[in-house]
Amino acid sequence: MKLAILGTGFISRFYAESLVAQRRKDELVMVCGRDKERVKQFATDYNIPHYTTDLKEAVSHPEVELVIIGTANYVHLEAVLACAAAKKHVICTKPLGRNAHEALQMLKAVDAAGITGGYLEDLCYTPKFLKSLAAIKGGSIGEVIWAKSRETHPGPHSDWFWDKEKAGGGAMIDLGCHCIEISRNFIGKDIRPVEVMCWADTRMHPIDAEDNAVALVKYANGAIGQFEVSWSFRGGMDLRDEVMGTEGTIWANNFLRTGFEMFSTGKGVNYVAEKAESSSGWLFPVGDEVHELGYNHMFTDMFDSIEKGTQPAETFYDGYIVNAILDAAYKSAKSKQWESVIIEDWRGSNEVKQPHAFASYDENYYLIKEEILPSGEKKTIVKHKQTGSIEKR
Ligand SMILES: NC(=O)c1ccc[n+]([C@@H]2O[C@H](COP(=O)([O-])OP(=O)(O)OC[C@H]3O[C@@H](n4cnc5c(N)ncnc54)[C@H](O)[C@@H]3O)[C@@H](O)[C@H]2O)c1
Repeated sequence: MKLAILGTGFISRFYAESLVAQRRKDELVMVCGRDKERVKQFATDYNIPHYTTDLKEAVSHPEVELVIIGTANYVHLEAVLACAAAKKHVICTKPLGRNAHEALQMLKAVDAAGITGGYLEDLCYTPKFLKSLAAIKGGSIGEVIWAKSRETHPGPHSDWFWDKEKAGGGAMIDLGCHCIEISRNFIGKDIRPVEVMCWADTRMHPIDAEDNAVALVKYANGAIGQFEVSWSFRGGMDLRDEVMGTEGTIWANNFLRTGFEMFSTGKGVNYVAEKAESSSGWLFPVGDEVHELGYNHMFTDMFDSIEKGTQPAETFYDGYIVNAILDAAYKSAKSKQWESVIIEDWRGSNEVKQPHAFASYDENYYLIKEEILPSGEKKTIVKHKQTGSIEKR
């Protein structure tokens, strides 16, 4: 597949590393950026034959079959509309929109143009995520009751992220989008997110947007998705997921403490890992960041789906739902109340929550808990199905 990449910054270089370094059959043929020197350098670095500073020229170039959007948040809508007008398949980095209104316009545009809109949510393609999701879908941890995802680091690298208008918000839109989609996958994408309760505050930086936030997302089946985000966390980038099911538990540490530790006096070491704050002392490098952050699996799914005419695991629709949840979180942070998730175009299930089936102890009692104590005594606690009395057996 012949590809154009829009943007020459941080994420576009990660994408290019994934696309060029692994001898893929897919080929970057065009790159577009605002700065002429930077775009030329990018083209040279990745051996890309065409480069331009004109977004429409990049998208409509006759060789280009698929466009990868890696531009700042405030350019996503314009870039997607240009792809829809040129009828080129498009895959866009996160967050899809600065809000659900923008995301819905993008979703409608790709639907109307009959092109694929893939959502580049790389953290839903990490090896640990894919294995966790397969285990959950296979029933290994039962029904998911609570799924927590955390992304915290010392703050982003470019000016526009810190500008509320250009980014669409602060740490929550930037990092919460990842966490929301991780939890949503674990809980089940078919299940409607209904309301959000959020705390968000600006604790450390002179900005209008939030630099810290915690939120609960309630789903129609009673499950809770929780996210924790920060732009003031010190010590690197903390990416952790925790899932609690009726039959099991998953904990995944994706980045900061993966079992790879290194000590350096600081001599000779420069880059350690994304958002690492130090290059001396005990360090926590990541073996192959591009792979461990999910980019390889993500692009393979995107290109395979487009070739086969199927939908990738993460689509513009998913990006739109994430934006709708984020909108409710921003509203809740202001109102200090649970706020409804407003979804104009819901494509999942409308089933009402079924009461959980309690485990029976016998004909008359439910089983609440069984435990063996240090003394060796086995305790069994039951509840009478009719009277409700709680008893020890
Ligand atoms: N894990 C991830 O998925 C991940 C990580 C980082 C950033 N991102 C996302 O990637 C996007 C870019 O972030 P970044 O970190 O690369 O930022 P960056 O500041 O490093 O790069 C932004 C790029 O956008 C380009 N750009 C801005 N306006 C443009 C225009 N009108 N036409 C063409 N190019 C234009 C700039 O030239 C620059 O190359 C953001 O949406 C961000 O949220 C995703």
